[in-house]
Amino acid sequence: MPRQDAPIGVFDSGIGGLSVLRALRAALPHEHFVYFADSAHAPYGERDDAYVLARSRAVLAALRQSHGIKAFVIACNTATAAAARTLREEHPDALLVGIEPALKPALALTHTGRIGVWATRATLASGKFQTLYQAWSAQAEYVLQACDGLASAIDTEAISADSTPVRALIDRYLDALGPLGDAPGAIDTLVLGCTHYPLAREHLLASLAGRAVALLDPADAVARHTRTLLQAAGLARAASVAPQGQLTLRASGPDVALHAAAWRWLDA
Ligand code: DGL
Repeated sequence: MPRQDAPIGVFDSGIGGLSVLRALRAALPHEHFVYFADSAHAPYGERDDAYVLARSRAVLAALRQSHGIKAFVIACNTATAAAARTLREEHPDALLVGIEPALKPALALTHTGRIGVWATRATLASGKFQTLYQAWSAQAEYVLQACDGLASAIDTEAISADSTPVRALIDRYLDALGPLGDAPGAIDTLVLGCTHYPLAREHLLASLAGRAVALLDPADAVARHTRTLLQAAGLARAASVAPQGQLTLRASGPDVALHAAAWRWLDA
């Protein structure tokens, strides 16, 4: 099989990376994808770096071996923070793409100069995030909020269809940010620094109840970046080969949430 026809691996602890996969499939409709949810070891966000690195390493090795992936998209902020650098060193020949909270793009959106950042506890504690924060924190006031339990609640909602726990956590973490909206001193931009959170966008909008807050999800930017890297490496799949790429879903543990969420978010 020509290298161009190999699939792209996309990885998260659970269903959150589907928010990135949705953007990838729109930007790269001819590509084949293998999505891997590490559901037996989720959530990552309240674990330490060594654990998340070990899991990320194992997933990358497995996807390279069993699917011969041509690129690996870490569709998880927590895993990118803990593992991207080491995986790049360990796999210098692999095309690796990560994701990080959109602190810089938020600067272009805010008028009040106050920006909320929601992410997992592990992402906010990581050295990678601290470096990012140091780079931009002189230009706006970032209010950082670790959203314990929210990614897990979003995974669970995919099966239970009960939105009560997700709504309760969203309300709690919005309250913790302080005043929201476009009035002076209020937060008018919220960075969604975990790939699960865009899947709860409807609930977020309902809880915001009309308050003017821009929600920032970097999935489209990650998809464009992936396309650019594939093209530069000569690894993009030719559009003439077959009109539509295929999607394979894999999970290390229970896969009910993954299939339900893929059906809902990707029509797959
Ligand atoms: N979706 C992951 C992220 O972007 C983390 C979810 C988890 O805690 O496992 O950070």
